Amino acid sequence: MAVMRSVFYVPSNNEKMVTKATSIEVDILTLDLEDSVPPAEKVRGREMIKKYLDSARAKQKAKYFYVRINNWETEMTNDDLEAVVYPGLDGVCLAKCGSKENVTRLAWKLEELEQRRGMKVGSVAIQLLIETAKGVINAHEAATASPRVGSLIFGAVDYTKDMRVTLTSEGQEQLYARFYTAVAARAAGCVAIDCPYVAFQDMEGYKKSTEEGHQMGYEGRMLIHPSQIEPAHEIYTPSAESIEWAEGVKKVFEEEGIAKGTAAVTYLGKMVDTPVYENAMQILRTMEEIQAADA
Ligand code: COA
Ligand code: MG
Repeated sequence: MAVMRSVFYVPSNNEKMVTKATSIEVDILTLDLEDSVPPAEKVRGREMIKKYLDSARAKQKAKYFYVRINNWETEMTNDDLEAVVYPGLDGVCLAKCGSKENVTRLAWKLEELEQRRGMKVGSVAIQLLIETAKGVINAHEAATASPRVGSLIFGAVDYTKDMRVTLTSEGQEQLYARFYTAVAARAAGCVAIDCPYVAFQDMEGYKKSTEEGHQMGYEGRMLIHPSQIEPAHEIYTPSAESIEWAEGVKKVFEEEGIAKGTAAVTYLGKMVDTPVYENAMQILRTMEEIQAADA
């Protein structure tokens, strides 16, 4: 699985922020063409992205480079894709994904552009923003509509708008959709990426919310402000204690369990059986993947 702890957003028409973005150390840097860019600025945003790909992409500190594009119903999607699908683009995030048809149409268009522009077919990944009631209900179908889909983001801001409720920092109104999107992503073999935390000056609230989402199965977060990067990396990277626990479980289960013909042993006063062992092994694998990605 790809490491996607930090998915950092920058409005593509904001020259100052785009210039700064090159030096931002995150897993995915995303230049936005959707709702953080006003309609009259879309063309300029597309031009800025092409310029970024030509001159800044090679120097960026982020591991991957994505662009968020407008959904088909806006009639801007085709122009977005024509403008930005060039070598150096690692993925596109489809805003307001509502159905599997949204995804198949996008996969088809990406293939055409990759062929026309001498890019490896299949090289541009698809990330889906699940941020409407319809999008939540159809999330798994959409996630499995193309092998390009590697991650799902839960978008709380649009979701609460669609549900006609108030977005709160506690997020009670989003619980069902936030849980469900993580499960849909996991079932599809995709990385689940948590919603943006808009109260970016409330660091305690942000950390609490990120821990909560982590326990729902989210492995990364959509970030809007530089101050959110470091806590995200800390929370989504296994802690020293959990590594120590996983190594302890591995040793006890393999040496006291399997080697002696049993698959249930005790470690630190708790039962360790096969799924507990496999969970521990997953923590060790995640750590290896993060270390390899950071290297
Ligand atoms: N990308 C790059 N730089 C950013 C940034 C971002 N997303 N968010 C903040 N910064 C920079 C600011 O330019 C500022 O730089 P400076 O010190 O050189 O002036 C510094 O970080 C501190 O920013 P701050 O003053 O705290 O915030 P702000 O008022 O400038 O910006 C937002 C606040 C919310 C407008 C801004 O963070 C933002 O535009 N975020 C992304 C929005 C987005 O992409 N939305 C769509 C997805 S939900
Ligand atoms: Mg949105």
